[in-house]
Amino acid sequence: SDTDLASVLAGARVMPVLTVPSAATAGPLADALAAGGARCAEVTFRTPDAEQVLKTMAAHGGLTVGAGTVLTPEQVDLAVAAGARFVVSPGFDEAVVARCGELGVPVVPGIASATELMRALRAGLDTVKLFPSEPLGGIPMLRALAAPFPQARFVPTGGIDAYRMTAYLADPAVLAVGGSWMATAAHLERGEYEEIRRLTAEAVQRSAT
Ligand code: 3PG
Repeated sequence: SDTDLASVLAGARVMPVLTVPSAATAGPLADALAAGGARCAEVTFRTPDAEQVLKTMAAHGGLTVGAGTVLTPEQVDLAVAAGARFVVSPGFDEAVVARCGELGVPVVPGIASATELMRALRAGLDTVKLFPSEPLGGIPMLRALAAPFPQARFVPTGGIDAYRMTAYLADPAVLAVGGSWMATAAHLERGEYEEIRRLTAEAVQRSAT
């Protein structure tokens, strides 16, 4: 169904996580990500311009765009109205998950423990964001957490780069990997769109092998 992240991602395995200081950069950023072969992106609600960035990037047409760092049901409404096709949160919040369910938009809550994963499973979700993945212990943490929950699929995010990404993607429990390394706020402040394209292309190529 289209309330499932896997169907929205349609095979994409690398998720650029974006914190965009100015909406003026959203168009060139979407161009650079699409030129690098990205098919999806997560725009985080961490900057005042996030809603406008989401609108611009969703309207670009070349990317399936979702909202990240969604902490409240009100932000779910703003995100979906702006064109978000999926919602990501750093943690598990029942009100956020419920609002996404009402709107029929896939939601990927962050989890950092078996208890949080059990809450997500009880809420009817089987895809979760392991966050923050590297500080939690990386692949050994993922393996240990996945073992009792064969139905769970993970989108590890937090401290991952193009090199760490490939080992995560080799794990059958991993749906996709997220990270900011392809397009950072520093890249955007410096107008480094060619570097964003290059890092995105590198990640997309490595994710496909
Ligand atoms: C997120 O919200 O998913 C993280 O900030 C992304 O983590 P990273 O910046 O360590 O890649």
